[in-house]
Amino acid sequence: MPFVAEAASRPNSPEARDTAFVVHGLTNLRRHLDEGPLVIESGRGVWVRDRHGRDYLEGMSGLWCLSLGYGETRLIEACRRQMETLAYAHLTNHRSHPAVIDLAEKLIEIAPVPMSHVWFANSGSEAADCAARLCWYYWNAQDAPERRKFLAHRRAYHGNTIAAASLTGADYAHRQFNLPLDGFLHVACPDYVTDALEEESEQAFSERLLADLEALIAREGPETIAAFFTEPILAAGGVVIPPQAYLDGLQILLRKHGILLVADEVVTAFGRTGEMFGCTTMGLAPDLIVCAKGITSAYFPLSAVLINARVFDAMVAQSDRLPLFGLTMTYSGHPVGCAVACEAIRIYEDDAIVARVRRLEPVLLDSLRRSLRGSAIVGYIRGRGLLAGVQLMARRHPVQTFDPTQRIGPLCADAAQAQGLFVRAIGDTLAICPPLTISESEIEILADRLARGIADVEKDL
Ligand SMILES: Cc1ncc(COP(=O)(O)O)c(C=O)c1O
Repeated sequence: MPFVAEAASRPNSPEARDTAFVVHGLTNLRRHLDEGPLVIESGRGVWVRDRHGRDYLEGMSGLWCLSLGYGETRLIEACRRQMETLAYAHLTNHRSHPAVIDLAEKLIEIAPVPMSHVWFANSGSEAADCAARLCWYYWNAQDAPERRKFLAHRRAYHGNTIAAASLTGADYAHRQFNLPLDGFLHVACPDYVTDALEEESEQAFSERLLADLEALIAREGPETIAAFFTEPILAAGGVVIPPQAYLDGLQILLRKHGILLVADEVVTAFGRTGEMFGCTTMGLAPDLIVCAKGITSAYFPLSAVLINARVFDAMVAQSDRLPLFGLTMTYSGHPVGCAVACEAIRIYEDDAIVARVRRLEPVLLDSLRRSLRGSAIVGYIRGRGLLAGVQLMARRHPVQTFDPTQRIGPLCADAAQAQGLFVRAIGDTLAICPPLTISESEIEILADRLARGIADVEKDL
């Protein structure tokens, strides 16, 4: 982006002031200092505009979160109303307020499996962290304090607090940060597309992963394992849709050994996969559900942990022994976040977002397949609802992935951005997660710009 580098070299430009003062995550800091940021100034619907007046289709809903798009006046109004009425209240020492009561009741009503109570936090990472803490609290309450270990998938992303980053199965979150903590173990990613052995059926792939997991549980001792964390679909892991046989077998195994199941629905909840929750799409029946992002359509930072009766009853029983439940946060159940979330859920329901996503799923997948048909480097296109992954590979049969040092995925994402489209490269998977309000014609634009970006990279290979 020469215009960005040029602006960054001008003293006092926003780009120069950014490089002077701001630290950016998931960014090469040296390259950032050299090239500067892309400064986004405004957004409307599925579109954002940079400060040089260029428009981009936001094909990733920001970071998988802006489900209702920009400029949703009902959310803005809900925020303003709540700020005027009660800008802040907390939940400690038996205090409460109407917005948190409304939201908790609604979440329990729409939960994909019977749930009992809700704990609130401010981000997906915090909620995942709190879910891990609640698992420990549960096992202590059950007089099984030795159940301390967690299992999660390699490549899965569960956030970036110390516990959530330990759950995350990615090197970049661990190396340099002295993580993962002891007792956070990772098992194979259920990515049949890239990780199956030659000629291995989906069933055989699932059975192999489950056999490895059972062996790990036996080696570690089931009585030392607190919980297994999984996303219904591994979003930041590369939009990995686990085989149904794998998820079914996983739950049988966990039940057999009494291990809690935590579903991380930070990306998948609130219509994204064509059901209100990804657990329904993928047939998961967890003990705890972690939600964030779409809960407020990113208009306010808020997250939640839905807790079932098995866990909540044990927490209450523990309160007969201890003076206090010791988890607390200043902004847990922030009234503005709760009011915005209540309104977002009302919009999801009023606008029949789930039905809309189901109708648009084939539109998205078909237009991606049509636009990318001519590309020799597009291996697979997969998706559920309005969450899709375009898998780039050197050869499809037998599967041959690109050398990671070629950085084909990031090059394609950059080329798509030059065409006016934001997608996210996760290795060589291009993730697509547009606002659920996207129109059919905007989906066509998305697919067309993506195809042009990929073609630009392909012609230089
Ligand atoms: C599945 C999943 N869990 C947790 C998180 C962490 O959420 P946050 O960035 O709000 O802390 C993310 C963020 O992308 C996520 O994708």
